[in-house]
Amino acid sequence: MITTLSTSKVIDRTFSTGDLPILVTCNDQKQYICKYMRADSVSAYKLTSELIGSILAKYWNLNTPEIVFVKILPEHTKPFAIQYNHSAEAIGYQKINNAIDIANYINDDIKQSQKLFTQLLKIALFDFWIANEDRTCNNANMLYVDRDEKLISIDYGGIFNTNSYQTKLCQLSSFDSIIYADIFKHLETNSDFQNIVEKSKKYYDICINKSRKIFTDLETLQIPKSWNITENILRQKINELFERQWIDDCFSNYKETLRQNF
Ligand SMILES: Nc1ncnc2c1ncn2[C@@H]1O[C@H](COP(=O)(O)OP(=O)(O)OP(=O)(O)O)[C@@H](O)[C@H]1O
Ligand SMILES: [Mg+2]
Repeated sequence: MITTLSTSKVIDRTFSTGDLPILVTCNDQKQYICKYMRADSVSAYKLTSELIGSILAKYWNLNTPEIVFVKILPEHTKPFAIQYNHSAEAIGYQKINNAIDIANYINDDIKQSQKLFTQLLKIALFDFWIANEDRTCNNANMLYVDRDEKLISIDYGGIFNTNSYQTKLCQLSSFDSIIYADIFKHLETNSDFQNIVEKSKKYYDICINKSRKIFTDLETLQIPKSWNITENILRQKINELFERQWIDDCFSNYKETLRQNF
């Protein structure tokens, strides 16, 4: 169940990344990074991607921030020039404290552990299946929390081939994968390729089956009515995710991309 909160004070800050998210404090006293509805019709589908990506990531046992819906009150954005549709709920990612952004340079801040490598492989495989074009070596969309030894996946605004809801899913290029980033080389130490492929395949089959259940009834996604999403368009896209050919091709693509980087 995703709860709906309201902002409780003037927004804390803005980010200059692609979606210009904002950091807000809500009426539960916690801070959330919010992605919000713009005037265009595309942003509703982008928010839907953020929502679906977050829900699925949980089912895949990835570390991913908790999400809520946020009513951003107009009086709380006044000092900032933010163009948004305030009658539509935003999606809020609970702020993770003491996390660092994974950048394209890896330094000794990040432990070289098998645990982190396993988390990275799961994120990489998930991205192939969900066609996430926004996590690349230039933009990792991952946070690192040293005390918990966790890689946290963020930002699902680029899934479904950057929200191509009206065209067929298409495979990521190997270069679009986080497997091409320095962090892969940093964590891949003394690993056995064949063993990883076998373990990944077992994990993949379990995750696909778990994911299937979420979509039997679209109501469980809790997509706000204010987003005005056309159910048929969404249903079509979700069905593609579970086509046998797509499932098999994604795994082959993941395996080949791994092989190229071992
Ligand atoms: N849950 C979180 N906890 C802490 N920091 C976060 C969280 N979510 C996002 N951030 C910070 O906010 C930045 C922007 O978030 P995000 O990547 O989701 O936005 P974006 O505008 O969609 O990015 P992009 O440019 O990749 O499209 C991140 O790089 C990270 O520094
Ligand atoms: Mg991002």
